[in-house]
Parts: sequence; structure tokens; C-alpha cells
Amino acid sequence: MKAHRPLSLGYFLALLCSQPAWAQFPRECTTTEALRNGVCCPDLLPISGPGTDLCGASSGRGRCEAVTADSRPHSRQYPHDGRDDREGWPTRFFNRTCRCNGNFSGHNCGTCRPGWRGAACDERVLTVRRNLLDLSAEERNYFVQALDMAKRTTHPQFVIATRRSEEILGPDGNTPQFENISIYNYFVWIHYYSVKKTFLGAGQESFGEVDFSHEGPAFLTWHRYHLLQLERDMQVCRKHFNVQILYRHCALFVNRYSDPTGRYDPAVRSLHNLAHLFLNGTGGQTHLSPNDPIFILLHTFTDAVFDEWLRRYNADISTFPLENAPIGHNRQYNMVPFWPPITNTEMFVTAPDNLGYTYEVQWSSRNFSISEIITIAVVAALLLVAVIFVGASCLIRARNKLDEANQPLLGDQYEHYTEEYETLKNSNQSMV
Ligand SMILES: *[C@@H]1O[C@H](CO)[C@@H](O)[C@H](O)[C@H]1NC(C)=O
Ligand SMILES: *[C@@H]1O[C@H](CO)[C@@H](O)[C@H](O)[C@H]1NC(C)=O
Ligand SMILES: *[C@@H]1O[C@H](CO)[C@@H](O)[C@H](O)[C@H]1NC(C)=O
Ligand SMILES: *[C@@H]1O[C@H](CO)[C@@H](O)[C@H](O)[C@H]1NC(C)=O
Repeated sequence: MKAHRPLSLGYFLALLCSQPAWAQFPRECTTTEALRNGVCCPDLLPISGPGTDLCGASSGRGRCEAVTADSRPHSRQYPHDGRDDREGWPTRFFNRTCRCNGNFSGHNCGTCRPGWRGAACDERVLTVRRNLLDLSAEERNYFVQALDMAKRTTHPQFVIATRRSEEILGPDGNTPQFENISIYNYFVWIHYYSVKKTFLGAGQESFGEVDFSHEGPAFLTWHRYHLLQLERDMQVCRKHFNVQILYRHCALFVNRYSDPTGRYDPAVRSLHNLAHLFLNGTGGQTHLSPNDPIFILLHTFTDAVFDEWLRRYNADISTFPLENAPIGHNRQYNMVPFWPPITNTEMFVTAPDNLGYTYEVQWSSRNFSISEIITIAVVAALLLVAVIFVGASCLIRARNKLDEANQPLLGDQYEHYTEEYETLKNSNQSMV
């Protein structure tokens, strides 16, 4: 019984190994030809030779289709249209991708949508995400070892672009600029890429008032997908569905969406930042915050609150702005830099019915008003700061026992990505 207890984040990182996953960019699509044509539609089972089963078309799983990218106006806060690869994501890199039918999913339609499994993706799955504090010492220890393993294992599916789209083919026009990355660093990279500044040219200061995953309504949908992606990788990988990520009880982030217009209270926001700063490791720096595993716990809890809100208020997508949100935050925008393209709308759904997971957490059944929720959140946040501190110290102590895990998961500067003169230091963007 004990030995078979449902597993945790540790497992999902450790087991990330062999099967299709989602995000930037599948290794198959990083050839000069694919990039020149702007087509990323890998074969699934090309029995009759290369190109004969694009997107699993021969078995009806999907088709290679033109990408749909949001073209509605964004807020005027971002005045540099035409300068950033993340605009109209992912059309600066690819204009055609797989569109999967029914319950199929993935960059070549080789996997199932969240909540489904089986060869035909017709069996329902529901995973339960558990509280870190409910795990045994053994399970927690496994978690730490798994992080260490994830840090050292090359991501099986995805590579990262090390240059902007203009230079992606290299100096000779025939040397695609991509690099392998470890599983955990990849998770960190995705976050970094979504918040990095806009490069405006050699010798010019990069533009920092841009953030595709924070400071707007996409905060919740983006982070939901970021976590789901990791969890899903692991599940597909091991065909082991008794796996889920963890959450940590905290209410820091609920406030991000407390105002129906999608704005949030700056006072509350600084409270949120305060907790991140208190962590004061990489968790306190914007672009590298996922580097600290506590990131996962915090954001998973945020997601639990988001899901409760969606269910309790029967939330309607009309509360999510269709246009004029900060760039990246319109309802139909493809979240940057996930692959294949997925819009905010697709994550604005209740998790148990649509995404195949639920939370162990018990909520009071009483209906709270928005102001009560904010009050509770603020109090919980203060308590949390203390709890996190204890939790973080435990993790750090546990980590110190492992030789290699003594290194930061990813260095302070991401060395591999080059946009001339762009420096990753001194970022003043929001915390996670
Ligand atoms: C995608 O299409 C747009 C509009 O036709 C074009 O400007 C862009 O260069 C294309 N991108 C790629 C990667 O082919
Ligand atoms: C997913 O599979 C189930 C079971 O076969 C089916 O009823 C459902 O329609 C499928 N969903 C979609 C979107 O095709
Ligand atoms: C990444 O690693 C794989 C397998 O080790 C190798 O085949 C591939 O060439 C590497 N890709 C890059 C861009 O270094
Ligand atoms: C955070 O770290 C910095 C330097 O690493 C230190 O100066 C500062 O006092 C720390 N803050 C807290 C709250 O521990």
C-alpha cells in the first residue's frame, strides 16, 4: 500500500524520459529545410518513408495546417511591433504545425490531450495533485534526487533556439542555431524566454516593459500550462498515470485575477513579490525563478485556487480580454513559447473535467466574496512566508547531501542565448 502511494513531482521529473512532449522546438523541426519553409509537422510513424505520416495523418490523428495566430491589438504598453520573435507566436519561426483531431495531441499528434490516455486516447484519466506536506520522508527524498536527475538528463524531444529568428540559420545560412538542454533547465528556459526583454538592436538598450506570462490575465493560464506540460511529459513517458505534481498551500497569487477586468492590486502584487524576495535564492529573480523548485509548489497552489475559482463562479471566458490586453495576454494569443501552439482560452477550463487532474485540497464550501478571498489570501501569504522558509531550508539541506545538486540548477546568466549586448542582469521585471 505504502510503496504504491501516488507519486509526486519527483517522479514526474525523474521519469521525463522518452516520449513526445510539448514546447519550443521539437528536434525534428530544427533543420534548415523545416526552418526555411516554416513548417513543423513531424512524421509520427512513417512506415512508407519520410514524409508519409506527417502529424499521424495516415491514422487520422492529425493534419499539417496553417498556424492561427492572434492578430487583435494589444495594449499600447508595447510599442515595438515587428521587433520581437514572440509577436504572433510562433509565426516568426513556423507557419504550419500539426493540428490534432479529437483527443490526440503533441507536436506530431503522437500523444493524448490532457485527461486521456490509451492507444486511441479514449480512456479517461484523473490524477490527484497532493500536498507536499502529506508526503513521507522517503517520498520527499525521492523528489530531491529526481530534481538532480532532471538537471543532468538531456531533454529527449526539445531543443532551444540560441539566436533570434533572423539569425537562426547561422552565419552561413545553413547551420541552425539550437542547443540541447537538460530537462530541468528546459523548464527554467521556457519561463525565461517568456519574460526576457525585447532586443532593439546592437548598442541600444533592450525594452523591459514586456512580459508574456505575468502582469496580465495570461498569468494563470500560462503557469497552468507550464506545470501541466511537465506533468504530462512524465505521464506519457512512463505510461504511469498514478503521478502528479505537488502543491504548497499558499494563497499568494489568487489576487492576480481578483479584478474582473484582469487588473490586479499593486499592493497585493508587492506582497506576492515580497514572498519571492524572501526566498532570496533564484526564486527571487524574475527570469530564473523556476530554478528554485519551490516555484513549482507555489504555482501549483495558485493553480488550485484558479481552478476553484473557475468552478465556484462558473467563470465565463468573457472575463478574459479578447483584445487590448498586454501583448501575449489576449484570449486567443498562443502562449509563448509553448509548442505546439496553444491559446490562453484552452487553459481557461475546469481541470477535473477538461484537463484530467484535480487537487487533494479541501475548500470551504461557503461562498466567499471577492474581498473576503483577498483578505484570506493576504493572511495566508504572511503565514506562508514563514512556512516556505522552513520548507526551503529543508530542501536546501536535503540538496546539500547530494554532490552535484550543490550547483545551482541554472547559472545566473543563461550563457547560451545571444542577442548582442543584451544582458540578462538587472532585470526589473516582475517576480513570478
Ligand atoms: C509566415 O508567414 C508570414 C506571412 O506570410 C511571413 O511573413 C513569415 O515570414 C512566415 N514565416 C516563416 C517562418 O516562414
Ligand atoms: C475523447 O474520447 C472519448 C471516448 O472515446 C469521446 O467520447 C470524446 O468525444 C473524445 N473527445 C473528443 C474531443 O473527440
Ligand atoms: C542533441 O543531442 C542529440 C543526442 O545526443 C544529438 O544527436 C544532437 O545532434 C544534439 N543536438 C544539438 C543541437 O546539439
Ligand atoms: C538576499 O540576498 C542578498 C545578497 O545575496 C542579501 O544582501 C540580502 O540581505 C538578502 N535578503 C534577505 C531578506 O535575506
